[in-house]
Amino acid sequence: MTFKTAFTTVAWAALAALAAPAHAQTPLKVGLMLPATGTYAALGDAIEKGFKLHVQEQGGKLGGRTIEYFKVDDESDPSKATDNVNKLIKRDQVDVIVGTVHSGVALAMARAARESNTLLIIPNAGAGDITGPLCSPNIVRSSFSNWQPGYAMGEAVGKRGHKKVVTITWKYGAGIESVNGFKEGFEKSGGKVIKDLLVPFPSVEFQALLTEIAALKPDAVYTFFAGGGAVKFVKDYSAAGLKASIPLYGAGFLTDGTLDAQGDTASGLVTALHYADSLNNAKDKAFRLAYAKAYKLQPDVYAVQGYDAAQILGIGLKATNGDPRKKAEFAAAVRKATIDSPRGPFMLSKSHNPVQDMYLRQVVGKENKMIGIASKGLVDPGRGCRM
Ligand code: BEZ
Repeated sequence: MTFKTAFTTVAWAALAALAAPAHAQTPLKVGLMLPATGTYAALGDAIEKGFKLHVQEQGGKLGGRTIEYFKVDDESDPSKATDNVNKLIKRDQVDVIVGTVHSGVALAMARAARESNTLLIIPNAGAGDITGPLCSPNIVRSSFSNWQPGYAMGEAVGKRGHKKVVTITWKYGAGIESVNGFKEGFEKSGGKVIKDLLVPFPSVEFQALLTEIAALKPDAVYTFFAGGGAVKFVKDYSAAGLKASIPLYGAGFLTDGTLDAQGDTASGLVTALHYADSLNNAKDKAFRLAYAKAYKLQPDVYAVQGYDAAQILGIGLKATNGDPRKKAEFAAAVRKATIDSPRGPFMLSKSHNPVQDMYLRQVVGKENKMIGIASKGLVDPGRGCRM
């Protein structure tokens, strides 16, 4: 290169830098508030891996901005949630928050995001209020509402002819909302939930309640457990001798990301969820290959939700030239987008929750195999959302 061409190249680069808006030259601060400890630790890890995979696929940039990560372990503890989210908002002054898994923690995050007008992308927690009364243009969910898998499973259990069901879950928002969704779907077909059993979160002391289920002799059991609690529940249900006599159904978290640890005790279980291991669409095939290559692991539903959180952020940033302060333009772009997800393409509802198919899955070997669609294009009612 001659001195003249070298000078011209440098001069053009300098001019381009001057022309670019100031924000484009600084990294975008992304606050990851996820559980790194406790019963949901593996879920937080998969979400982070999925999110980072999409960013890597985009050459480390979204909307032209390089990404700088700030991390907080929320421990799935609602009592620490406001302090934890303020570490990201006030101390680190992040541009966007991505989190979290636990509904109770996510509710505190949503309140803080509304007050500070910080962008919040929720990659798991299904609390109904977040896309209900707390809905906001700056809050988007890439996952599901607790109502969705519960309602879909309820309809499917009704169609299978079961009439008398017992439910068992953790006593906190996600479990209770999941069971309520189940009842709404199930009782339409004339069935009855005869007893709701509750365990404090995150306890895994199930024995007394399993004895009660045996005595009640229902046609079937519906449950919401996830992560470490789901592993223990499925093992205990089988060890108590109930698996052979009383069919166990669940929101699909019961068997997602858990099959290695559950082994044979999970085999045959039927659940409903917005993802399955055998979807076979082109996007899912590419995603599963890339995830396995990057992490030497098979992805699960949480990895998909993290990946899609990054896709949603990328769509909003592209429309705003990398400026997350343009909240209205960001929201308008994600509202009209079709997200090309490994679960299948989806759009967001008016309250910013995915409108999506709920798959019926059955555990075969180490897979949640898709055996049908429990509910097509299921829209969360978004009760109480005014936006
Ligand atoms: C929740 O708290 O919303 C939740 C946690 C784990 C799996 C699904 C939902």
